[in-house]
Amino acid sequence: MLRAKILGTGSYAPQKVITNRDLAGIVETSDEWITSRTGIRERRVAVNETTTEMASKAGKAALKAAGVSPKDIDLIVVGTVTPEFTFPSTACFVQSTLGIKPGAAAFDVSAACSGFLYALDAAEKYLKTGAAKKALVIGVDAFSRLMDWTDRTTCVLFGDGAGAVVLSAEKGAKGILSSNVHSDGRRWEMLYARGVSQKNPFEDNPHDAPRPSPHLKMQGNETFKIAVRTMGSAINEAIENSGIKPDDITLLIPHQANERIINAAKDRLKLNDERVYTNLDRFGNTSAGSIPLALDEAVRGGRIKDNDIVLFVAFGGGLTWASAVVRW
Ligand code: UT7
Repeated sequence: MLRAKILGTGSYAPQKVITNRDLAGIVETSDEWITSRTGIRERRVAVNETTTEMASKAGKAALKAAGVSPKDIDLIVVGTVTPEFTFPSTACFVQSTLGIKPGAAAFDVSAACSGFLYALDAAEKYLKTGAAKKALVIGVDAFSRLMDWTDRTTCVLFGDGAGAVVLSAEKGAKGILSSNVHSDGRRWEMLYARGVSQKNPFEDNPHDAPRPSPHLKMQGNETFKIAVRTMGSAINEAIENSGIKPDDITLLIPHQANERIINAAKDRLKLNDERVYTNLDRFGNTSAGSIPLALDEAVRGGRIKDNDIVLFVAFGGGLTWASAVVRW
């Protein structure tokens, strides 16, 4: 039986650091409020940098760590909701930027903060069935471009960043043990960004009608409650489908949206701090970038070793949620 094994990880975050104090200078907020309600202290913002550039830097680092040549990648899947072009996909741009061989399959997945795990899930299916041999999977978002920077209820929460993994179809016990993805489109209004669309000349009153806001909107408090509940059940599903016990988990890497949501997951599994990876104090919520950025830090920091069991869990706009368990 073939499994999707992670051979290497990489990540990239823009240089520009925006602290809570910086934000207190542009909206009515405080370091105290942001830190106590979310755990976030600072975030990175892409300045003159594109989604493709961030994705490619993370992808290049993952290829280097994996010791895999771009010529050997036959599948690229990118989770993102902030591509700089509507089409071609960010995956196609990554393909040409990194010199991945022409003829490889390349596509983007739109699942907001669950985007990386959705992309990982899609790639796993290709690798398990033998439809691809080596895949580059990237989670990347630049939510700074979706923000209403006058809305304190959202602009303090998000940051920009990217992370990537290189996967290979291999026999044996190591690799993805289970991957689970879900959605509930009835609840899209909890968290969305409409984006900008052009009017066409056939619409009534094309120039005078008010345009809906293109920015990110979130019903924060309600989303918070659903996130706690849903991430709990996603963790249970991941454990059950992988045939592991909660005690087997070496490291939980949850989506980095809010420290209080992460603590609820931690308590549910009765894990101590050493077994949960968080970096949202330094990056905020980077949407699809969040889990692979944290994973890369954990790997490079020596927090994950041979045969360790790592559980990923995410929740985001759609609503979408996802989980995966990997034997390293
Ligand atoms: O990644 C995808 C999933 N996203 C999430 O899971 C995010 C989920 N939601 C959250 O993390 C939290 O709901 C927030 C951090 C967004 C908000 O925390 P909260 O404890 O749910 O606060 P709240 O929305 O109930 O607002 C409490 C108060 C309000 O004032 P009043 O009405 O009590 O006077 C807000 O206006 O805090 C106020 N507030 C702020 N005050 C200072 C909201 N944002 C801010 C702010 N600074 N930035």
